[in-house]
This record gives sequence, C-alpha cells and structure tokens, in this order.
Amino acid sequence: MSRVRSSYRCRSCGATALRWSGRCPACAEWNTLGEVAAGRPLPPGVVARRRGADGGVGALPPAAAGAGAVALAGVDGASSRPQPTGVGELDRVLGGGLVPGSVTLVGGEPGTGKSTLLLQVLGRAASGGGRALLVSAEESPEQVKRRADRLGVDAGDLWIVGDTDMDAVRAAVHEVDPALLVVDSIQTVWDGEFDASPGSVAQVRGCAQVLVAMAKARAMATVIVGHVTKDGTLAGPRLLEHVVDTVVTVEGDRHHALRLLRASKHRFGPTGELGVMEMTGGGLEGVADASGLFLSDRRAGSPGSVVFPAVEGHRPLLVEVQALVVGSELANPRRQASGLDAGRLALLLAVLAKRTDVALGRCDVYASVAGGVRVREPGADLAVGLALASAAGGWPLPAGLVAVGEVGLAGELRHASQLPRRLAESARLGFTDAVVPAGADVPRQVKGLRTWPVRSLGEAVVAVAQM
Ligand code: TYD
Ligand code: MG
Repeated sequence: MSRVRSSYRCRSCGATALRWSGRCPACAEWNTLGEVAAGRPLPPGVVARRRGADGGVGALPPAAAGAGAVALAGVDGASSRPQPTGVGELDRVLGGGLVPGSVTLVGGEPGTGKSTLLLQVLGRAASGGGRALLVSAEESPEQVKRRADRLGVDAGDLWIVGDTDMDAVRAAVHEVDPALLVVDSIQTVWDGEFDASPGSVAQVRGCAQVLVAMAKARAMATVIVGHVTKDGTLAGPRLLEHVVDTVVTVEGDRHHALRLLRASKHRFGPTGELGVMEMTGGGLEGVADASGLFLSDRRAGSPGSVVFPAVEGHRPLLVEVQALVVGSELANPRRQASGLDAGRLALLLAVLAKRTDVALGRCDVYASVAGGVRVREPGADLAVGLALASAAGGWPLPAGLVAVGEVGLAGELRHASQLPRRLAESARLGFTDAVVPAGADVPRQVKGLRTWPVRSLGEAVVAVAQM
C-alpha cells in the first residue's frame, strides 16, 4: 500500500526528497525545492533522505518523477544511445559505449588498471568535443597529470577535482557541466550529510545514490571506480550493484600484462562480452588477436598440454590447458586448479578413475589455464580430461589438436554452444584436428580442420592416443 504524504521536488534537477531543505540534496542548488501537492502517492522508488541513517536520497529521472504513465511508443529511445568511449575493448563490453545519464561501476582489485583505463577514456571524451571531469580522490592532480602525459592523454578539456568532499564534487559538476564524470574511487569520497566515515557502508551507498541522482538529472554519463579485494568483501562494489546501471569488472593479476573486461550487469545491452587488453608502458592497449596472444608462449608437443577453443560472449578465444601429474607422498594428494573450477577438476578425476583406466588417486594433480585467464565454461571439461590423461601417461597430444565438450558423470560428452565459431577460430590459427562431442550437426571438415566426433571421455582418450 502506498503511503500518502507530501514530498518536495527540485525545480533545477527534478530530484525528489521527502523533507524540505534550503538546498537540493542532489544538485546542491539553493531554494529550488518546492512541495509536490500533498495527498498524492509518492512515485515508487522515492526514498527518504535521513541524516545519519544509511542515507538514501530519493531521485527519479525528471521525466518519470510524478509524471504519470506515458505511452511507450512516444518515448524517445534515441536519447539513451550509447556514446563510444573511444577505447574499443570497453565499447565492445558496453555494447557500444556509455549511455548519457547512466552510471557505470568499474570494479576490480587494486593495481589492475582501473585508473589507467578511465584516464584514457576521459582523454578521449575531452578531445572528442565534450567536457570531462575526474574526481581524483586517491591521486593528486600532479600525479594524474604525470600519468596523463605518459599515456599521451590530451588534457584539453579534461578537468580535475582533487577533493574528497561531495560538496566540492557537486560544485565542480555545476561549474564544469561535463558530459562524462569519473569518480575514483567511491571508497574515498564522503558527504557530510551521512554521519559515517569514508568507505563505510552508509557513505559508499549514500554517495553513490547522490551520484546516480546527479547523472540522471544532468544526462551526464558517470563512471564510479570501486575496489574489490580478492574475497570481494570490502564495502563497495557488492553493495552498489543494484544502485548502478552497469557493472564492469577489470580482471587480471599483477604478474601478467593481460587484463580482461567483463560486464556482470548491464541495463543497456547484453552481458557476457569479453574485452581483452594488455598493460603496456603506454597504458592499456586493446588486443585484437587474443587467441594468438594466449598461445604465443605455448610449447606444443609436451605431455599435459591441450588447446581449448573457448567462447566468451561472441568472442572465440583459444587457451592452453595444462596438467601436471606426479606421484604423491601425501596421505591426501594435492589437487590444485588455477584458472579452472576446482570442483570440475575433482569431477573429471573421478570420471577418469571410474570410466577409463587413468587412475590418479595416488598422484598430486595440478591443472591450469596458461596466461592468467580464467575459464568458466563446462565445455572445457574434455580439454582438461585429455590434458590429465596425457600428463599421466607421459605422451604428448598432436600439436595441431583442440578439444571441446562437457563431460557428464557417466563419462558421456555433451555439446558446447557455438561449435562452428570455435572450430572456425581454431582453423584460423592453423589447428588441424578437433575432438568434439558426436552429434548430428558436427561438420566433418572446417577449412583444413578435421573433426573427430566422440561419445565419451574414454573414447576421446583412445582416439587421441592413436592419432
Ligand atoms: P592503476 O591504473 O593505478 O590501477 P588501479 O587504479 O586499478 O589500482 O595501474 C596499476 C598498475 O599499472 C601500476 O602498478 C602500474 C601499471 N601501469 C603500467 O604498467 N603502464 C602504464 O602506462 C600505467 C599508467 C600503469
Ligand atoms: Mg586507481
């Protein structure tokens, strides 16, 4: 049941508040709040702004705030078209670019390159005709300038606020009126309205809601940086997922140059597209031939190495799966998976033991994906199973072989999606043979690549041993 009480709407930005104050909580304009006729139910989603509590600030886009129903046919969909950021791999993940008025959270562990990526995006935005504003709460303007110079970022219409106070951020947004606002990071800004320390749940959520209101009111694309620790517990990204429109994560570890971009939530397009970038001396650069990069260090012909044609979104990506098997002295032999799901590894070891004659019960087993990539699809099962069998037997697999298929508990092979795309990418990179799950629609030959349809993991082991 909706409660009937009066509310106050800002004449400047359209934000709604439940309490009157001399200054709009969203855009900080003075004397702009006017009472919305009492007795009218509040639009859904309007939250009271309370001092000290968890601090939600109510705001709806101006068109929707109390405007009643509109005919969908009459809504201008063009105003929410994505604008390219100029960083191709990010645009691929975002389905074209950043939507004006939208809020994107860029999350990732410290050191993965979030600030670098966004400085590049800001530079493109500033040189592309619109103004861009960076709230740099972690690094001083001098540090940012040095980095911008090193990255060759055109600082033409790029503005910076080196203040952590949201009042300063509001004032700067009002003054600069940017098309793109980047806040780096949400854990370091604070608003005196919320009685809590920076980085706390109340501050992070409160500041994010203020930023969302500002973005909507001004049709300003906004990007918020949020750090995540390995276990993802820090007050930040997890907390904000439902507040923002889009969540992009930057993955990668410090020891590898590779960075992967993924959208885990996206209100304006599909999720699942993968962006591949490389950290270089001159910032993050898009990797056009990702499969080529992943396979560049491969030593074909060694036991335990199998190439898996993965697909991320629409992007085929060949990765090398490696396994190492050694006799164990331990009562509970080690099983270690990196870049792979440990549970799937355990399942494959059980299937191998039960359904084939590869028994690894007294061995330490290590399985990994080379190059710091993480493979999540069960379609990698066959490649991992074959890598384990090859490592255990000490025989190498043919250098031109790829393998794809999900393994069931009975050892049977199941289909992996987008097989033609996986096979085409394998053929493009010169692979000659593919072990695939048997089925009606498996082509015999794809541009010089021969397929070997098999029904089970056991059959696959026998087939490759004879190749
Ligand atoms: P940074 O963008 O500061 O990461 P985050 O904001 O996610 O914490 O960059 C992290 C690392 O990237 C830093 O350790 C240095 C390295 N780096 C490069 O290798 N090349 C470059 O051009 C830049 C700017 C940074
Ligand atoms: Mg940073």
